[in-house]
Amino acid sequence: MSAPTLEIHLSEDQMTEALRQDASAGLTATPKSLPPKWFYDARGSELFGAITELPEYYPTRTERELLRAKAAEIAKLSATQILVELGSGSSEKTMLLLDAMTAEGTLEQYVPQDVSPSALSGAIDQLRLDFPGLNVHGVVSDFTDTLHNLPSGGRRTIAFLGGTLGNLVPEERSEFLGSIAEVLDPGEHLLMGVGLVIDPAVLVPAYDDAAGVTAEFNRNVLHVLNKRLAADFEPERFEHIALWDEHSEWIEMRLEATSDMTVHVRDLDLTVSFAAGEQMRTEISAKFRLDGIADELRAAEFGIEHVWTDPEDRFALVLATRS
Ligand code: SAH
Ligand code: TRP
Repeated sequence: MSAPTLEIHLSEDQMTEALRQDASAGLTATPKSLPPKWFYDARGSELFGAITELPEYYPTRTERELLRAKAAEIAKLSATQILVELGSGSSEKTMLLLDAMTAEGTLEQYVPQDVSPSALSGAIDQLRLDFPGLNVHGVVSDFTDTLHNLPSGGRRTIAFLGGTLGNLVPEERSEFLGSIAEVLDPGEHLLMGVGLVIDPAVLVPAYDDAAGVTAEFNRNVLHVLNKRLAADFEPERFEHIALWDEHSEWIEMRLEATSDMTVHVRDLDLTVSFAAGEQMRTEISAKFRLDGIADELRAAEFGIEHVWTDPEDRFALVLATRS
């Protein structure tokens, strides 16, 4: 059938410009912080792939088993014709949904969207092999910007898997859910995979593994700044920190300067000082409770159609319907 296509809404130049703005704001703020989407250059997407295979990182495995068990039911309930996936990454787990929606006989098109062109083109190559008859249209964009050119002409489901909702801070989260509600018609679906609040003894190691892959992933944002903005960070002089904030119920990822440092960001004409022990926030990964997520969805004009959780209540798949 038709060959997969790739639509680029975010060119390399636009990405560099967006990073310039985020870096000048984040590196001059007190405390310093950087937005998480900058982890995901080609190396970062590969490191994330390695994280998903770590023994400590339960979310991917748990979500995959849930999808394996429930994809047929999701396909039946949603009768999806067009599956749009935000932050689709490798699309690896999504293939279970594509299989089920194909078997259900409804699926016409899959639209994976991601900020990482390398992850997206890798996924598309794999989809071409595994789903040769499927109409696949990839979109490189930022899901916190406008949801560009959402396809129409069929019953749509927007999937948002991997617990990525938790990487948005609460205000971004409600804005994001609101913008999804805005683009969907009543009766169309949102399928989310969210991490649940669990024992910190299990949770924290998932974000601070023994092999140090997550640490390398966290430091990758400094490599990205070096590459894109000609900065001179020495990433190995920053230590990875993962903290469970029990009040906000999120994991907070930080990078801690191990000594006093002066960093130059040449393309911004910016000099930044770090004091020994200074910490910079790079990411949160919020965990949810089922009543909380139901409230947030209701506030965004979604009704919950079904929730599936794994036997240990670590992760949930939530199928919501636009009211
Ligand atoms: N859904 C996949 C990947 C999760 S990791 C899974 O479940 O395994 C988060 C993904 O979101 C990465 O692929 C990353 O590139 C993408 N991403 C992060 N911030 C983004 C943004 N602002 N816009 C679009 N994609 C983003
Ligand atoms: N969406 C993933 C999550 O919150 C992203 C992630 C996994 C991550 N491990 C990380 C982000 C480590 C930063 C650091 O689970």
